[in-house]
Amino acid sequence: MSRRADAFFQQYDREGLAFMRAQRSSPMRDHRRAFRAQVTIPLRGKTVLDAGCGYGHDLPFYAKRGACVYGTDPSKAMIDLARQQCPECADRLSVQPIQKTAFPNRFFDLVTSIYALHNAPDLQPAFREMHRILKPGGLFIYLVQHPLFVFQRKTHQAYHRKETVTFTIPDMQPPCTIRQPAHTFSDYFTPFVLDRFELLAFAEGREAVPMWFLAKLRKR
Ligand SMILES: C[S@@+](CC[C@H](N)C(=O)[O-])C[C@H]1O[C@@H](n2cnc3c(N)ncnc32)[C@H](O)[C@@H]1O
Repeated sequence: MSRRADAFFQQYDREGLAFMRAQRSSPMRDHRRAFRAQVTIPLRGKTVLDAGCGYGHDLPFYAKRGACVYGTDPSKAMIDLARQQCPECADRLSVQPIQKTAFPNRFFDLVTSIYALHNAPDLQPAFREMHRILKPGGLFIYLVQHPLFVFQRKTHQAYHRKETVTFTIPDMQPPCTIRQPAHTFSDYFTPFVLDRFELLAFAEGREAVPMWFLAKLRKR
């Protein structure tokens, strides 16, 4: 992947270790609990990808339940940390962005992604890629920043206008400001997504302005 200005993972390359320490101090925030509640299928023997796995916080969760776990992240620094976090799946971790991977067609039973998909500058290639690598009937469960939360950070208060926004990651010392693209609900629920996937579940954060939403999709 080219190191373009819109390659948002570069920030995680720089901040990887500090990010990991901050997350460890609050490893099971509400969003992660809500996410895991959606992982209801038996994982034993299943092929699972955590796309945008970061430092690998969730990899042991899937590995301990008997899944054959893969993880990807475009940040090499994050993947290096993830190898320490989940030694049993270290050989299956690789540096790749969600929008273009080297996996074969129809490879995974389940793809998960927490707070990573929204970093893709354009979501459509990412949804197409997830659809390509999932088996028919396979699940894609993702959690991203809520478009309303993102909207509040826009310089121009124009919901549909393409913009890069900045926000501060909670709990990081020193505070860390992250840039990311601003996506709308229409970017997530496109005709392609609604045609090629079945929407099984949707949930959003309970904060006054929700920070996140999650969707559970099944490949048709
Ligand atoms: C907030 S962290 C979340 C990491 C992990 N999923 C977790 O829950 O701790 C965001 C991650 O998204 C990754 N990322 C950035 N751009 C990405 C892309 N295009 N595809 C996949 N992941 C990306 C970053 O490198 C970073 O590791």
